[in-house]
Amino acid sequence: MKTLVILAHPNIEASRVNKRWKQELHQHTDEITVHEIYKEYPDWSIDVPKEQGLLEAHSHIIFQFPLYWYSYPPLLKKWLDNVFTHGWAYGSNGNKLRGKKLGVAMSIGDKQDNYQAAGSVSFTVDEVIAPFKASAVHVGAIALPYFAVFGASFQASDEEINQSAADYFQYIIEYR
Ligand SMILES: Cc1cc2nc3c(=O)[nH]c(=O)nc-3n(C[C@H](O)[C@H](O)[C@H](O)COP(=O)(O)O)c2cc1C
Repeated sequence: MKTLVILAHPNIEASRVNKRWKQELHQHTDEITVHEIYKEYPDWSIDVPKEQGLLEAHSHIIFQFPLYWYSYPPLLKKWLDNVFTHGWAYGSNGNKLRGKKLGVAMSIGDKQDNYQAAGSVSFTVDEVIAPFKASAVHVGAIALPYFAVFGASFQASDEEINQSAADYFQYIIEYR
């Protein structure tokens, strides 16, 4: 079964990392479906049955996005609020995501060293993504280890970004 990548970047044209990752994933369309929500919903009016149908058709789902304010870009938050509904994702009859593998693939502007208790961020990436992991638990899904590239704002070289794209594809294959 194919992997579904929900890609949420507010300005993919100006992106270095997510644009390169998208290009990499498009070389594997037999294995990966990329669903770009900022392109699909420029008016932010989300077709909930369509999105739920897509999720139901996949058992391995990756959320790909640039880390903004230690969180998701806003359309992805709205997408989660709208799509993970009571009676579908959770609640007594809400079991549609149960047992599915969910992952996050993030470009992170800051350096990896700063993402620790003693670093300038004060928190690890695993702590930052606690809402994602708690949400996966809440819907009975399996939260996979995250994939990330650091220094995405300006430090990462083209070579490092190219390498991260290859690593990202391997991450998808490894955990599917
Ligand atoms: C609104 C905004 C908020 C951001 N917040 C963070 C943040 O909380 N932590 C961080 O490390 N980088 C942060 N950044 C940097 C982005 O993570 C970085 O620009 C992005 O990952 C680069 O990926 P791209 O080349 O695909 O756009 C932020 C950038 C923007 C524009």
